[in-house]
Amino acid sequence: MRVLQLGLFLALASGFAAISIYIIGLSNSSVYLNSQLTDEDTQALLSLHNSFEKCMSANGLGLKAARGGDYCQTTINFPSDTIPKWKDPKTGELEVLSYDFNLCEAVATWEQVRNSTTILTKEYIDSLPNGWEEYAWRRINKGILLNHCENKTLCMEKLSLVLPESPPYFPRQFGRCAVIGNSGDLLKTKFGKVIDGYDVVIRENGAPTQNYTDHVGRKSTFRLLNRGSAKALDKVVELDEQRKEVLIVKTTIHDIMSKMIRELPIKNPVYLMLGASFGSAAKGTGLKALEFALSMCNSVDMYGFTVDPGYKEWTRYFSESRQGHTPLHGRAYYQMMECLGLIKIHSPMRADPNRVVKWVPNHHLIRAARIASEKLLRRVGAGSGNPLGACSIVKKQVKRNANAISKLRKEALDHMRYVKSTTMYPLEHSPGHGLLCTVPSD
Ligand SMILES: *[C@@H]1O[C@H](CO)[C@@H](O)[C@H](O)[C@H]1NC(C)=O
Ligand SMILES: *[C@@H]1O[C@H](CO)[C@@H](O)[C@H](O)[C@H]1NC(C)=O
Ligand SMILES: *[C@@H]1O[C@H](CO)[C@@H](O)[C@H](O)[C@H]1NC(C)=O
Ligand SMILES: *[C@@H]1O[C@H](CO)[C@@H](O)[C@H](O)[C@H]1NC(C)=O
Repeated sequence: MRVLQLGLFLALASGFAAISIYIIGLSNSSVYLNSQLTDEDTQALLSLHNSFEKCMSANGLGLKAARGGDYCQTTINFPSDTIPKWKDPKTGELEVLSYDFNLCEAVATWEQVRNSTTILTKEYIDSLPNGWEEYAWRRINKGILLNHCENKTLCMEKLSLVLPESPPYFPRQFGRCAVIGNSGDLLKTKFGKVIDGYDVVIRENGAPTQNYTDHVGRKSTFRLLNRGSAKALDKVVELDEQRKEVLIVKTTIHDIMSKMIRELPIKNPVYLMLGASFGSAAKGTGLKALEFALSMCNSVDMYGFTVDPGYKEWTRYFSESRQGHTPLHGRAYYQMMECLGLIKIHSPMRADPNRVVKWVPNHHLIRAARIASEKLLRRVGAGSGNPLGACSIVKKQVKRNANAISKLRKEALDHMRYVKSTTMYPLEHSPGHGLLCTVPSD
C-alpha cells in the first residue's frame, strides 16, 4: 500500500517543492486558534467519509473507498482484477491497486484554492518579505545567475512581459469552466459541441483544435504551458485561430519566450502561474490546470483525462502513444476530487453530459468538514470564523481596476464582499498553509 498524501502528491506532480519560502513569525502559536474538535466537527468528518464512500461506489467505475484509522485517512482500492500497465521508469515497478489519501488535507487545501489567486503579480513579489531577493529569480530561467536579483531593475525587466501589477482574474469570475486534457480517449466521444458551450475552456500545451473540433471543440480561453511548450510559444499561438487565448506558464520566463513576445510579436496575454514548478516540469499539467480553473470558476468539468478502467496505452488524441505517468494513481485522485464536489468527470464511460454525480457532499457538509479539517491540521486561523483568518502576511494592495471589477458576475462580487476585497495568494511551504493577503488601502 502506498501512502501518498495530498501535499506530497502536489509536490511530486507540480514541483511545489522547488520553491521554498520561509515565513518568519508563524511559529507564534497564537495564530493557531482552537485546534480542539467539537462534536459537530467530528460528526462533519464522519459524514464526509460516509458520503465519500457512497460517492466512490456510485461513480468510481469499480473504485471503493474505505475510511482509515482516524478522521482523515481514506484508502481507495481498485478491483483486484485490475491489470496495471504502467511501470515506474526508475524502479521498473507496476502501479499498485490501493492508494491512501488524506481527505482533511484535500478538503482544506482545495477549498482554499477556490478563494485564492493563482497568477503571479508584481504586487505579490513586492508584498512577499524579501520577495525580489528570495523569490523573483526563481521565476526567471537561469535565475540563479542573477545573484538574488542584485540588480532589481534587470529582474523587473525580465519579468515585465508576464507580470501584471494586480490579479487579472478573481475567484468565481467565471461560471462553468471545462478543463480539457490531451488523452487519446477524446477520440472515442464527440464532446466538441458540449465543450464549446462552456463559459471558459482551458487547454494544455500543444493541444490542437483544428481537425479535431467534433471531439474537442473549438473554443479556447486559456492554455496552460509547461516548459517545453512555453519555449515553443510561436507554435503554440498558432493553435488558436483567434489569437486571443490567454497563456499561463507553469514554469519560468525564458529569454527565448520574451524575445518571441517582443519581436513576433505575440499579442496574447501571457502570465506565470503562482506556485508553478521549475526544473523537470513535464509532470502534472492536468492537476495544475484544475487548480487554475478552481481559483476562478464556479464549477469545473474535466474532459480528456485517462480516467476509465482498462486503459491499454498512454496516448494523446493528436499524436502517437508516448510515455505517460501514473494513470491509476491519477484516476483515484481525480475520482477523489469529484467526490469532494470539486470537479465533474466526463469520459467515454461517463459520456452523458447530464450525468448526476451521486452522493457528492453538499456545500454545507463540505464547509463543516473543511472547518474541522483546518482545526485538525492546525491550519493558520482555523476555527476563527474570520474570512481573513488564514492571512499570515497582510499588505496594502495596489490600485485595482474599478471598471473591470464593476463588470464581475454577482457571485464574484458576493465573494469579494465576503473577503472585504482582500486578494489571497498561496504561499508555498508556509507552515499551516498561511496566505499572503493584500487589502484595499482605504
Ligand atoms: C504572538 O502574537 C501575539 C499577537 O500578535 C503577541 O501578542 C504575542 O506576543 C506573540 N507571541 C510570541 C511568542 O511572539
Ligand atoms: C542593471 O540592469 C539594467 C537593465 O538591464 C542596466 O541598464 C544597468 O546597467 C544594470 N546595473 C548595474 C549596476 O549593473
Ligand atoms: C489539419 O489537417 C490539414 C490537412 O490534412 C493539415 O494540413 C493541418 O496541418 C492539420 N492541422 C493540425 C493542427 O493538425
Ligand atoms: C471562500 O469564500 C466563500 C465565500 O465566497 C466562503 O463561504 C468560504 O468559507 C471561503 N473558504 C475558505 C476556505 O475560506
